[in-house]
Amino acid sequence: MTLLVPPSYGDRFRDLIGSLTGISLPASKVQMIDQRLRRRVMAFGLRDTETYLRMLLEDRDMTDELRIVIDLITTNTTSFFREPSHFDFLVDEILPAILRRRGTGLTPRLKLWSAASSEGAEAFTAAMVLAEAQRAGRRFDYAILGTDISYRMLERATAAVYDSDQLATVPAHLLRRYVMTSADPALAGKARMVPELRRRVRFRYLNLMDDAYPVDRDVDVILLRNVLIYFAAEDKDRVIARMVTHLAPGGHLLVGHSESMAVRHPGLRQVRPTIFRKE
Ligand SMILES: C[S@@+](CC[C@H](N)C(=O)[O-])C[C@H]1O[C@@H](n2cnc3c(N)ncnc32)[C@H](O)[C@@H]1O
Repeated sequence: MTLLVPPSYGDRFRDLIGSLTGISLPASKVQMIDQRLRRRVMAFGLRDTETYLRMLLEDRDMTDELRIVIDLITTNTTSFFREPSHFDFLVDEILPAILRRRGTGLTPRLKLWSAASSEGAEAFTAAMVLAEAQRAGRRFDYAILGTDISYRMLERATAAVYDSDQLATVPAHLLRRYVMTSADPALAGKARMVPELRRRVRFRYLNLMDDAYPVDRDVDVILLRNVLIYFAAEDKDRVIARMVTHLAPGGHLLVGHSESMAVRHPGLRQVRPTIFRKE
């Protein structure tokens, strides 16, 4: 069948973003796309977004530019202690169960994966509550992996430097213990997570659309929060199925409060509205 009207650059762009990142951009988001790409249109001195998209889609070797586009198209909103009941569940339910299961031999090690980590607030929140549990006398070690598709966010997460307003949701006693300020004028109004936490939290690039994830297969807790909402239904199913293969038996998958309906997998049992356990 011949198409009478060829797909516009906007349509082709939305298809490209969908296939690269899983993010489905409905036609109604055209204004948002235009706004987010405006800086790139200006950087190239182009007339309009249409011209920019033509360049992006038709010129060869736009790989580096595509990386920038993905940074601009992703929504990276996050915060410390977002959906705080998840962190209570981590310390009050998951951690004691792991300690019980692993007995009294070697120091047990809890592995947590923040699978759409953005700039790291989620991973460092987990690190703070686990460090607190250690201070309270529980004997265990932990390792946290944060992954994201946005290189810009991964750079920020690795630096672990946050503005004071981003830290406003961190309780004062945790700020005193785990966040340090600097006399450096370049860091005025900012603070950095302490080395004790930074040593245990690593960040690296991972695209959830990839067929396989280079991640351990005995992860105790996966935080997959506020990212499934951007994906089409069949992509959500595929991502969840892959996630399950990385959970240890008895491991937990935690999703955002509006995402629990997306989790339909025979290997997972729902234990709270947004918390699933691998059987
Ligand atoms: C709204 S943030 C959520 C951050 C954090 N999980 C939270 O709940 O606060 C969504 C993150 O998912 C990332 N993301 C979107 N598509 C992705 C993909 N295909 N693979 C990996 N990360 C992706 C974005 O870059 C963004 O940082």
